[in-house]
Amino acid sequence: MKLNTPRSRALGMHLVLVLVTCLLASRLLVANQAPSAPVPTPEPALTPTQAAIADSATPWGGDYFPNTLLTDQDGKQVHFFDDLIKGKVVVINFIFTSCSDSCPLETARLRQVQKLLGDRVGKDIFFYSISIDPLSDTPAVLKAYSQRFQVGPGWQFLTGEFADVTELRQKLGLFIEGVDNGRNKDHNLSLIVGNQQTGRWMKASPFENPWILADQLANTLQNWKQPSIGESYANAPEIRPPSNGEELFRTRCASCHSLGPLDGQGIGLRSIGPDLIGVTRQRDPAWLSRWIREPDRMLAEKDPIAVEMFERFDRISMPNLRMDEKSAQSIIDFLQEETDRQHPPVSPLAAGNEEPEHHHAIAGPGSSQGQTQVQ
Ligand code: HEC
Repeated sequence: MKLNTPRSRALGMHLVLVLVTCLLASRLLVANQAPSAPVPTPEPALTPTQAAIADSATPWGGDYFPNTLLTDQDGKQVHFFDDLIKGKVVVINFIFTSCSDSCPLETARLRQVQKLLGDRVGKDIFFYSISIDPLSDTPAVLKAYSQRFQVGPGWQFLTGEFADVTELRQKLGLFIEGVDNGRNKDHNLSLIVGNQQTGRWMKASPFENPWILADQLANTLQNWKQPSIGESYANAPEIRPPSNGEELFRTRCASCHSLGPLDGQGIGLRSIGPDLIGVTRQRDPAWLSRWIREPDRMLAEKDPIAVEMFERFDRISMPNLRMDEKSAQSIIDFLQEETDRQHPPVSPLAAGNEEPEHHHAIAGPGSSQGQTQVQ
């Protein structure tokens, strides 16, 4: 009765194809999607369980997902299936707040996606970050973390029993045996978006462009229930092929850093770390290269610049993204080119560029230009 029309199946098929090529397809969930399967005709006499499955039109209903008891950052208890995902479009990721590599990147990326979605988050799109380190990540710790990243409403940070959380990861196809066992720091980059009701789930990458993630949540997973804006492709800007350094910057760094005042266009999209225009002129090249490769070690060694910045940026540390020297150099080259483009070397940058731009951006995302919504 719901969303199981040939059209939605065709869309499902389309989605599966797109996903397989674009994303890390979820072996567990997408593989089972079997778009060519005939529309199930409910048997006349259904057991309550069968009725529940037919009702949700997806094999991933209440008897697939556990109804795990979790506690959110405000100490509120919720049940995974009934309260968090049933009938909803959701983003779920697994984090631990002491993580110094991939999790802050995921959090920063999702924060951008949240900003792009505006007030739809909490209404028809829900964000959940579930801790895989429940011993350390108490509700209070999760609350402090969410405040540091200034996440908005509609995004819950949750903790629960370790075994239960592991089971959730397995059920969501976000647990790799051997990699994710225990509290391994190398946990799987684990982000999944889905619509419980239609049974469409797809893994996503935190390196993905935030506009694409926002579009999946606002449109694709909602079966395009809201009409798109009538923009013509003729008005699309020309895209130049990015250099290796730019590509790395856009996927690994841009979730936290802007490049000049026009980057992010005043919607507070990138404001967790400092703006990086001019940084290649301000910092020693060797310092910069090492910083990009191992900021965590420099902070641990109490490098004076690192310590000062860490305090200034709300004690959010720059993650170690395991860049090698060559990648770091290509990013530095890109930062240099972009600085020279925006501020040709003849007119040197005004001194005192120390004022952290990000604070303005955070204070005024709504006031300056209003939220941009992905329709
Ligand atoms: C999760 C957010 C995040 C990501 C992702 C991130 N950074 Fe940072 N970065 C920060 C923060 C926060 C600071 C400020 C220092 C601190 O608090 O440790 C910083 C500082 C810096 C600085 C020092 C700026 C200065 O004034 O000297 C540079 C350079 C930098 N980052 C480059 C990068 C590059 C290149 C990447 C991608 C490979 C990257 N960052 C990815 C958060 C991030």
